[in-house]
Parts: sequence; structure tokens; C-alpha cells
Amino acid sequence: MVNLIIDGKNITAEKDTMLLEAARAAGIAIPSLCTHEAVSRSGACRLCVVEIKKGNRTIIVTSCLYGVEEGLVVNTKSDRVLNVRRLVMELLLARCPESDVLQKMAKEMGVESQGRFVADSDKGKCILCRSCVRVCEEVVGVSAIGLFSRGSQKTVGTPYNEKSDVCIGCGACVYVCPTGHIEMISTEDKRKIWGRTFKMQTCAKCGKYFAPVDQLKFISKKTGIPLSELTVCTECR
Ligand code: SF4
Ligand code: FES
Repeated sequence: MVNLIIDGKNITAEKDTMLLEAARAAGIAIPSLCTHEAVSRSGACRLCVVEIKKGNRTIIVTSCLYGVEEGLVVNTKSDRVLNVRRLVMELLLARCPESDVLQKMAKEMGVESQGRFVADSDKGKCILCRSCVRVCEEVVGVSAIGLFSRGSQKTVGTPYNEKSDVCIGCGACVYVCPTGHIEMISTEDKRKIWGRTFKMQTCAKCGKYFAPVDQLKFISKKTGIPLSELTVCTECR
């Protein structure tokens, strides 16, 4: 176990815990957008910054990537921290002015607008956190989407924006996206995502549509479980 001080509070945390988790476990709130329990950490949003004391110096670190250390003194709400977070939020708001998630967070942080930055009108709600790309690659294992182009033109999507042959329509990307950028339209027997329409499978017991047929085929191929054994929904299993 490691002992440290966060916002004047003595905290004990397990070795290898990140500052963000240690602070939250102690009831100290730190904003974040790019952390999700399903994916590895990317440090992409920079909203979780905190200030740590190292010798005579204080430095700003991203708390989701910085591990706890014995004797560390952490300040999550210093003026410097709050100013960096506000600047980050202004940049995020400039990229995605329409995002309701960002607008709500910005208000809580006392940020009214994108400030000195010019607002984009064509980026949707995507903050380029890569959580969707990571879950598709690390958890699902298909890598159907990625980040493409460079600089301000960078966007998330399928290669060349074409219909992906490998996408299985699972919707994991939608689940982890912090801003609701990815559009998935579900009707009873169909699901539309990333430009493709997936046929849904009915449960062999209750008859409800519950998963894309392509997703079940993928699981069957990966695990060796016959497709016929995968056609029962989780509620009926
Ligand atoms: S679509 Fe969502 S999860 Fe993917 S990079 Fe953009 S904000 Fe992150
Ligand atoms: S939560 Fe740490 S950088 Fe996004």
C-alpha cells in the first residue's frame, strides 16, 4: 500500500493505482472524458490534470496516467489546475460546440464558451479520444474503425469512410463514446452503424431481437461455440 496526500487528505491506495482512481475512491471529484473501464487509458482529453509536489517543484500531470507514490502531495483544485482544465475545455468546446456533454461539463467548470478559439462547425461531437477505436481493437478484436487524416482534419471512422467488411455491428464503440458522437440506429430487426445495416438475430426462447447476426457469427468463429448455441439472449440463458 502507498500513503499520499490529496487535497490535504491522507489517503492509502494500492500500489499501481492511478491518481484519478485514488482521488475518486476518496470522494474527490476530478473531471474526465477519455477514461472508461472497458479500454486502456489514453490520456487524450487532458481534463483530469492535477498538480503534484516533487521536491521544491510543483508540476501538472494527467491523473489518469500518473500512479500513486509514497509521500506524494497532490492538489486537484489549485488555481493552476483549474486554469489548465478551463483552457482544455475551451479547446474541446471549440472543436465540438454542439456537444451537450461538453456544454454541461463546461458550465460546471465555469466555462461559458470556447473563449479565444474559433468554433468548428463540422466535427460533430467527436473529441478524438480514441476510446471507440481502442475498444474495437482491444476488446472486440476487429479494428473496424480508426482515426484518419491529420491536424484539424482528423476524424474517426472506417478506412476511406467506406463500409467496413470487418465491422460486426456490436455497438461497443457507441457504448464507450463519452460524447454520443457515434450514430447507431436500431429498429426491431435491423441495426445501422458506420454506414452498414446489420440484420438482428431473434432469441430462440423469447423471440426478441437481441444481437446482430454478424456479431454472433464472429463469436462462434472465435470461440468455436456452434452458432446454434449462441441464439439465446442473455435474459433467457
Ligand atoms: S467517436 Fe467518441 S469515442 Fe470515438 S474518438 Fe470520437 S469522442 Fe472518442
Ligand atoms: S481522463 Fe485523463 S486525460 Fe482524459
